[in-house]
Amino acid sequence: MSRKRTAILISGRGSNMRRLIEAAADAKFPAEIVLVLSNRPEAEGLGFAKEKGIATAAVDHKIHAGRESFEASLQVLLELHRVELICLAGFMRLFTPSFVRLWEGRMLNIHPALLPAYRGLHTHERALADGVKIHGCTVHFVAPAVDEGPIIAQAAVAVRDDDTPQSLAARVLEQEHIIYPAALAALASGALEIRGNRVIERIVTRAPPPLRVPEAK
Ligand code: GRF
Repeated sequence: MSRKRTAILISGRGSNMRRLIEAAADAKFPAEIVLVLSNRPEAEGLGFAKEKGIATAAVDHKIHAGRESFEASLQVLLELHRVELICLAGFMRLFTPSFVRLWEGRMLNIHPALLPAYRGLHTHERALADGVKIHGCTVHFVAPAVDEGPIIAQAAVAVRDDDTPQSLAARVLEQEHIIYPAALAALASGALEIRGNRVIERIVTRAPPPLRVPEAK
């Protein structure tokens, strides 16, 4: 089976992007990273992708008149690189419903909270302010509403009494780096089936089992 051509969209640091690139460096990984796009030309993550020989581009949203023309520029690049799957990794722009529909079932996002709790920004601060004991992260398919869409993977961390937003964020990020490559691998290998709001993961048999020829007597 050919590896799925995947683009990663970032806006900043790009640590999740880095983990996806590292995971996909293994030829057995079912997705290959063919493009990294950023809406911010100064995004730190672009440098790492370039070093790894991956095509990169910055599509500055500020020079576009509106979301439609920004997305049209993204789409040109995605088509040019024959992209099949998109991973949003700290990408801080919202998409129009028509762009989301275009990529329905083929675009993932990682969110630093256990959705549907704590959609939006400042998730770690809000979790600590609420005094929750469990926090975490979620990989989900992108739907038109922000931080919604069928959930593929989640990981939980226990909140500690002395946690700050920074210490909690760091432990959640470690988990993000584990579940994002796993979720992309599951999607790229064809293992995921969306049933309503639920994602079912099927076991994918990569090769048929060897035929057992009865021994001649
Ligand atoms: C991560 O916490 C991710 O969950 C959120 O934005 C942050 C991006 O971090 N969507 P990085 O750029 O991947 O390091």
